[in-house]
Amino acid sequence: MSHFLDINRTAPEDLRAMIDSASAMKTARAGRPRAALDDAPVLDGHMVALIFEKPSTRTRVSFDVGVRQMGGQSLVLTGSEMQLGHGESIADTARVLSRYVDLIMIRTFAEDTLLELAEHATVPVINGLTDRSHPCQIMADILTYEEHRGSIAGRKVVWCGDGNNVCASFLHAAGRFGFDMTFAGPEALDPEAEFIGEARAAGRKIEISRDPFEAVQGADLVVSDTWLSMHDGPETRERRHNLLKPYQVNEALMEAAGPDALFMHCLPAHRGEEVTDAVMDGPQSVVFDEAENRLHAQKAVMRWCLGL
Ligand code: CP
Ligand code: NVA
Repeated sequence: MSHFLDINRTAPEDLRAMIDSASAMKTARAGRPRAALDDAPVLDGHMVALIFEKPSTRTRVSFDVGVRQMGGQSLVLTGSEMQLGHGESIADTARVLSRYVDLIMIRTFAEDTLLELAEHATVPVINGLTDRSHPCQIMADILTYEEHRGSIAGRKVVWCGDGNNVCASFLHAAGRFGFDMTFAGPEALDPEAEFIGEARAAGRKIEISRDPFEAVQGADLVVSDTWLSMHDGPETRERRHNLLKPYQVNEALMEAAGPDALFMHCLPAHRGEEVTDAVMDGPQSVVFDEAENRLHAQKAVMRWCLGL
């Protein structure tokens, strides 16, 4: 069963094949209406369930549109409206959905929910974000980086801010795609030691810095994300903001990174907090390419899961 649960649970050659497939599908669609079917509508006759236990704009729309472009059909399900949100077990939900659909994407809170769903489903399961990781986002980010700058292997990625779920998937990708990474953020919000250890064990240089200006020296890519993720309690807002303020990505920081460094953010962005308007809308920003590439990358992920 080809589940797409995390980048560090997927073989490097499969990840590379997905990026190449995404790039080819994107090129093949260039200039065509967005609703047009792909030349080979490989998902014809397939049904995909998209389950959301947290809000979403990009993941929801890009998966839905991606399924349709490939000739399949999708069902968008909200956790709270399913029996899942009212006491039915994850295992039973997995068994039941597997009788109806060919593929399940889930955005949820605990990673265990995703893993349990995958364990009991008899169709592939895709991680559309958990509290711990966001692999589909980073597949789109690798595609985006490589479109602009060529191979990401050997490059230096600097993460500025909270060592959160998106940062975790970047660390997973460092080991798999062979790039180095510096985390610039407060000690209290460091990424998980396990993920740093895995990337280092794969031979990557992973550094921790408390000084963002020092961290971005020689950066090929600077990345930021919200200071308060969907799973973070609102009562932590003030503390997090105070801790993270020094790590805002602004023009001065991008200048220190150098003119060739790109800026990425998975979005939604909180302009004026983790990133300024000048950077978001500036020449180094590729944030809307990233958003578009969710579509192309996830189409490749779905095809890989289904062996199509
Ligand atoms: N980046 C991302 O996953 O966006 P959504 O929360 O809108 O899906
Ligand atoms: N870290 C953010 C990413 C949103 C796409 C969150 O989990 O809310």
